[in-house]
Amino acid sequence: MTDARQALEGQVALVTGAGRGIGRAIAIALATEGAAVVLAARTRQQLAEVAAEIRERGGRALAVPTDVTQDTAVEALVEQTVAEFGRLDVLVTAAGTASFGPVAGAKPADWDAMLAVNFRAVMVCCCAVLPVMVHQHRGTILNIASVAAQRFIPGAAAYAATKAGVVAWSRVLREEVRAEGVRVGVLVPGAVDTPLWDAIPQGPDRSRMLRTEDVARAAVLMVTLPPGAALEELTLLPAGGIL
Ligand SMILES: NC(=O)c1ccc[n+]([C@@H]2O[C@H](COP(=O)([O-])OP(=O)(O)OC[C@H]3O[C@@H](n4cnc5c(N)ncnc54)[C@H](OP(=O)(O)O)[C@@H]3O)[C@@H](O)[C@H]2O)c1
Repeated sequence: MTDARQALEGQVALVTGAGRGIGRAIAIALATEGAAVVLAARTRQQLAEVAAEIRERGGRALAVPTDVTQDTAVEALVEQTVAEFGRLDVLVTAAGTASFGPVAGAKPADWDAMLAVNFRAVMVCCCAVLPVMVHQHRGTILNIASVAAQRFIPGAAAYAATKAGVVAWSRVLREEVRAEGVRVGVLVPGAVDTPLWDAIPQGPDRSRMLRTEDVARAAVLMVTLPPGAALEELTLLPAGGIL
């Protein structure tokens, strides 16, 4: 049995953004290592496909269509998770979106949707799982930021701000819940070849990006370390040097 499998057997993970891209890969990886996985995103069909793939491989999955920008929907998601599986050990916040453009000439309203999903919803999801994890005196929260929070990429100011916000939020939350047995990690990927890039013209060369499976391996490591160890922030970059 692998260390990851030993750590995740009997554990319950909730993954937002699990319908495609990074969240999908992490959900499948966690399920493959033995966790029961709750899949959240808005597109029912994609969630159903991921759930089916997990079950075909012998894993356990529950698809819960959820818009993470709706606070009551997030509360219901956590309630349903606990009702179904009796506990909640891992939260991965991979729901996110990206739009780019120079600040000069931008309309503030253009930023609202991205701020709501990438930043506020991460905060809300963290808050929603805390009572369960604190009660268990055990849990790992893994928020997905981006290297855009660390590097200065023209056109990415609003996106970078959401991701820097996630890093700062996670750093403070980590200190608040450390004594409660709850770990808070941030995974900071460079460019990853996902559907997120489909709508972005003139993006980087996708063949040189990370693969979602690479990110999933890092995520599994972060959430399966023994309780006495914490990989708090991990930057994962394409070895070829882009982003
Ligand atoms: N791709 C990259 O290069 C890269 C690099 C670093 C960090 N990241 C970050 O990684 C995360 C995942 O990105 P990705 O590349 O995997 O994107 P993706 O392939 O577009 O997947 C995004 C996922 O988030 C879900 N989502 C979006 N809005 C949502 C909402 N309001 N409620 C619930 N779910 C929502 C989407 O499902 P629905 O639309 O069906 O809801 C989808 O499942 C994002 O935070 C992104 O910023 C990506």
